[in-house]
Amino acid sequence: MAQALEPLQQLALACAECRRCGLASTRAQVVVSRGNPRARLMVIGEGPGAQEDEQGLPFVGRSGQLLDRLMASAGIDSNRDAYICNIVKCRPPGNRKPTAAEQAACRPWLEQQIALVDPPLILLAGATAVQGLLGVKGGITGLRGQWRPWQGRWLMPILHPSYLLRNPSERPGSPKALTQADLQQVQARLAQLAAPL
Ligand code: URA
Repeated sequence: MAQALEPLQQLALACAECRRCGLASTRAQVVVSRGNPRARLMVIGEGPGAQEDEQGLPFVGRSGQLLDRLMASAGIDSNRDAYICNIVKCRPPGNRKPTAAEQAACRPWLEQQIALVDPPLILLAGATAVQGLLGVKGGITGLRGQWRPWQGRWLMPILHPSYLLRNPSERPGSPKALTQADLQQVQARLAQLAAPL
């Protein structure tokens, strides 16, 4: 796994030069990843927002901070235990959903990240991440919380943290409480992977 570090650095350099779609002309920075490239968990979101575009790091704005807190309360440290990236690496203007063409243009970068990090578990944050990776359309509320096998890995769709920011209730059955439960499932599987045989 250690050998993946250099190719990941090369990937970041190549991404920084990318002009495969129109988002290149409006971005401040390409947002490739943060976290631990040796982690067994990859988090995939939709695409950078304003803060991410400014800092060059994924999930550092309000929704990222909420995701960090939710992961931490399930016992997952986002920078130590996860490698975090997005379906598209450049900010769609006005935070609109990335188009199918933009997602397709960016796909080879994501595929390289998955191949190099080689995570057994992938958390898909929000419907666009599910649709972008799997081509599966449909309500995230029906998909979340259920492990899906994919290419020898396990995927866990969760609600997008920006939705949770708009729905802050923590009552039992609330979107936030459901997400906590989903993240606890992820933590349990991470712990299983770490346990000696
Ligand atoms: N939302 C995302 O999906 N990704 C980010 O990096 C930030 C916000």
